[in-house]
Amino acid sequence: MRYFIIGFALVVLCVVGVAGLRGGFTRRPPIELFNDMVRQPKLRPQVPNNFLPDNRSSQPHPPGTIARGVRYQDIPANTGRIPGTTNFLVSLPVPFTHQLLARGQERFQINCSPCHGAQGDGNGIAKRISAMAVVANLHDKRIVTMPDGEIFNTISQGKNLMGSYAAQVAIDDRWAIIAYVRALQLSRLATLDEVPQEMRAALKK
Ligand code: HEC
Repeated sequence: MRYFIIGFALVVLCVVGVAGLRGGFTRRPPIELFNDMVRQPKLRPQVPNNFLPDNRSSQPHPPGTIARGVRYQDIPANTGRIPGTTNFLVSLPVPFTHQLLARGQERFQINCSPCHGAQGDGNGIAKRISAMAVVANLHDKRIVTMPDGEIFNTISQGKNLMGSYAAQVAIDDRWAIIAYVRALQLSRLATLDEVPQEMRAALKK
C-alpha cells in the first residue's frame, strides 16, 4: 500500500509536470483530453462577437416581434368572446379602418374565396370542381346577423365541414376578414337611399 501511494504521487507529479494545472498559463498549446465543454461554439450574451454585422452577440428583436404569451391572453381580440362569459363579441374588437378592410379583402380572396367565392355566396371554385356542395353562403340571414365573434370562432376552430383556418390566418387578419365579409354582406343589403346621389342613376339601369 505504501508503494502504491508513493507510485500514485509520482504519477500525479508527472502528469501535473507535463500537463500543468487547470487554469495555468503556458506558451505551448495546452493538452486537453476532454475539451468539448470548455470551449463551446455558442454566442455568450452581452459580449462582443464579430459573427454578426453589428458585433453584438445579443441581437435586438426583429421589428414586429411580440411576446409569445400575448397571443394566448384571455382577451376579446384573441378569443372573440366577452371576457368572463362564453358569449360572442357582437362587433370587432379592433378599429374599423380602410387598411383593415383592404387587408381583409386580400386575405379573404386568398383563404376563403376558393370555397365561399369572391362574393361570399358559397360558389367558389371548390364547389364547381369537387363535391363540396354545402359551402355556406355568407349572405344568409343567419350569418348576416351572426355576432362577429362567432365568425371569428368559425375561422379559428372551424365549423362542421369547414376546417380551422387558425394556422393560415393570423389573429389580426381574422378580424380583417370579418370586416370584409361585413362589407360584402352590406353590398347586397344596402338600399338605393344609401348610395350617393350621383351614382344612383347608374344603378337603376
Ligand atoms: C375548404 C373550403 C372552405 C374554406 C377555404 C373556407 N370555408 Fe367557410 N365554410 C365551408 C363549408 C363547407 C361551410 C359549411 C359548414 C357546415 O355547416 O357544414 C363553411 C361555413 C362557414 C361559415 C358559417 C358557419 C356557421 O356558423 O354555419 C362562415 C361564417 C365561414 N365559413 C367563413 C369562412 C371564412 C371567413 C373563411 C376564410 C378564412 C372560410 N370560411 C374558408 C368551407 C370553407
